[in-house]
Amino acid sequence: MLEHIKSVGVVGSGLMGLGIAQVVATAGFPVTLCDISEEAVNRGYQQISKQLAKDVAKGKKEQATVDQILGNIVTTCDYGKLADVDMVFEAVFEKMEVKKDLYTKLDAICKPACIFATNTSGLSITEIASVTKRCDKVVGTHFFNPVPVMKLLELVRGYDTSDETFQIALEMGAKIGKETISVKEAPLFCVNRILVPMINEAMFVFAEGIASAEDIDTGMMLGANHPIGPLALADLVGLDTLLLVMQTLYQETCDSKYRPCPLLVQLVRAGHFGRKTGQGIYKYD
Ligand code: CAA
Ligand code: NAD
Repeated sequence: MLEHIKSVGVVGSGLMGLGIAQVVATAGFPVTLCDISEEAVNRGYQQISKQLAKDVAKGKKEQATVDQILGNIVTTCDYGKLADVDMVFEAVFEKMEVKKDLYTKLDAICKPACIFATNTSGLSITEIASVTKRCDKVVGTHFFNPVPVMKLLELVRGYDTSDETFQIALEMGAKIGKETISVKEAPLFCVNRILVPMINEAMFVFAEGIASAEDIDTGMMLGANHPIGPLALADLVGLDTLLLVMQTLYQETCDSKYRPCPLLVQLVRAGHFGRKTGQGIYKYD
């Protein structure tokens, strides 16, 4: 099935989109990376280039390989450039209205056979697909941050996702070196349903003064063998994204156990989104 996929679009060149563009280009696909502004898309490309330069410095990649990967990526703000791609990975803001608006546009621009793969952290694939005339070709491909490092790709079926589309997603996952798991559609799917409430709970523990941020993180690293603590992870994910994801779980289930921690809400209101703004739970240079 994957032989039908010869070129790929990535929409959104933020934290996740740039990582997706990097792994897809590394697997040899020509990638068109698209964002709303020249500034955003150039920043994304520069980040990829910086990350690959680190790999060369560490002796993990040859310069020639890096040149080839970067040569596979073109950047644009013009969605029209996606007219001929065979598969689009979407990684724009975690807001249903933003995604629906984008998919309405993409549906009009992209050829009918093009597959739409959303990297949503937990929104309904079925609802995203509903604004297109190709509900069978829309699938959830949920990557993990940082994309080049994290092995998992969580695949999610919408109500109308066809077996063929799902098979292409499975084969694409293998081609770009990810282990896939297959998950039914449900708020936050599988991994985030478990992980995000845990991070939210860590915020409550911190906000209630039960332990310092450092001790909470050390506790979970040494006591539960997590690679980084939940508060450092919140800053890595982005508190803005994390809040949107937690709100989805709360709104979809109407279960008070999923209410976002007020400190998380307050930090987002203050514009402290974590690493990407230089301040979240922790401060960064
Ligand atoms: N891009 C590419 N590579 C990166 C990277 C990035 N952004 N960040 C780190 N790396 C690489 C480094 O180059 C390094 O590679 P080598 O070992 O080959 O030299 C390796 O990762 C380790 O990096 P560091 O030594 O700098 O730091 P670390 O040991 O603390 O590891 C980490 C960094 C891999 C991010 C690690 O802290 C970790 O695994 N954290 C947990 C990540 C996690 O749980 N992600 C899931 C978030 S939830 C999600 O994604 C879903 C959602 O919808 C919100
Ligand atoms: P981000 O804020 O870093 O990047 C989002 C990018 O999308 C920005 O560059 C923005 O300019 C761009 N964008 C917004 N609207 C657009 C549009 N209409 N057309 C083109 N570009 C547009 O966010 P992120 O962390 O990369 O998250 C992106 C998606 O990936 C979200 O759905 C999020 O839930 C999901 N996700 C995030 C993580 C994480 O750890 N941050 C992990 C897995 C999945």
